[in-house]
Amino acid sequence: LLDPATIYALDDINWSFSGNMSPTRSAYGLLDARNIHWYPATYIPEIPYSLIELLSRPGDRVMDPFAGIGTTVWQALALGREAFGGELTLIGQNSCRDIWALLSHDTNLRETEDDLDSRLNSWSGEDFSKEFMETERGALLAPWYSVGTFKELAFLAHIEEALVGRPAFHLFRLSTSAVLASVSEQRRGWGCIADNMKPREGDFMSAPPSRNPIDRVLKKASLVTRSIASARERLRYPEDYIPMAQESVSHIFGGDSLTSGALAPSQGYDLIVTSPPYPAMVDYSTAQRLSYYWNGLSPELDVSKEIGARRRRFSSSSLLDYTAEMINAVDAMKGSLKVGGKLALVIPVFTTAGADDPRTIALQAVFGSPAASGLELCWQTDRILPTGRRQLNQKWTSLQRENIRIYERTR
Ligand SMILES: C[S@@+](CC[C@H](N)C(=O)[O-])C[C@H]1O[C@@H](n2cnc3c(N)ncnc32)[C@H](O)[C@@H]1O
Repeated sequence: LLDPATIYALDDINWSFSGNMSPTRSAYGLLDARNIHWYPATYIPEIPYSLIELLSRPGDRVMDPFAGIGTTVWQALALGREAFGGELTLIGQNSCRDIWALLSHDTNLRETEDDLDSRLNSWSGEDFSKEFMETERGALLAPWYSVGTFKELAFLAHIEEALVGRPAFHLFRLSTSAVLASVSEQRRGWGCIADNMKPREGDFMSAPPSRNPIDRVLKKASLVTRSIASARERLRYPEDYIPMAQESVSHIFGGDSLTSGALAPSQGYDLIVTSPPYPAMVDYSTAQRLSYYWNGLSPELDVSKEIGARRRRFSSSSLLDYTAEMINAVDAMKGSLKVGGKLALVIPVFTTAGADDPRTIALQAVFGSPAASGLELCWQTDRILPTGRRQLNQKWTSLQRENIRIYERTR
């Protein structure tokens, strides 16, 4: 199913991408979405880059139906593929659309950053807190921020209205979403924010006058601009394919990928590369609680549609639900591929509880199911997660290994 040269190349990669083992690939300076937004469980760009490079050709249709903040999408664009993504959470979708707009050739990055800078630097201390407090989003956000921080957020909300429709809106929305958690008074990390643990009175007593969100947004925006500018220099489009900002509308599908059209049989993808939701590990929507609030929305509706949601972990049917939903997802992914198309997956390997770990059994059920018939396994390998990443995620997972596997749709 795979030619010997491809298998040789796949075998030759150090999939842990740790240390100095793969200098040639890191030398590409791939757009690493993790520098842009802290969205959890985002995989390293080297993985999708290598898979796309070896399993598809320029111009091919490449999809990630669990796109997160689009790591796969950016690598596909960098390699001149026609890139698609599907993502359930509003924050993941928005981030994908914003990054897409900033990457596209019709956005002048320098002007965009200047536009945002001059507006944010125009703040001379005016207080819009009262009117912000009267909006739905202001009321949702207030319990999480000190008075001084809230005052600056009120100014940011005020500015936002004037940015709608301008390229700077994308830079603003992305950067604001990325800093909202770190300027809140819940100092014990996003896990507590996900669990809706509001800061306590004592937390406010020890708070500085402001955590400077305006300044933080400016700094973030500058970092985002720099990462995107250098990624743009490396985009290798075929001459006839230059994505425009508005193309994100037809290439990024929002909502549940099983019903949004992302995996419609008519799509005929050449390649799907994805890291699907892992069972009972992270709730992506509630992790972005404050960004949902910024949009005047609650994350609860989206979290109820998330495959593998951690919040269901205590329910006895949680793993059964996960298995059933993933079987449907595998079936839909297969159905949206061309015959001969490839499906490349990064899935967890649970080592701590042995072979009887119910999560392992659930994954076996998914890939041993009839939905997977017509999909033939062509290649697989395990990768060891670097310790740094493990420590970062310790509260959520003791995951030490992942399995990368490639299937071909044979009929
Ligand atoms: C492991 S993450 C993928 C991260 C991504 N590969 C990246 O590096 O940015 C899984 C993603 O699947 C999304 N997801 C969960 N259920 C979904 C559904 N039914 N439809 C679409 N996306 C879903 C989650 O919100 C999360 O962003």
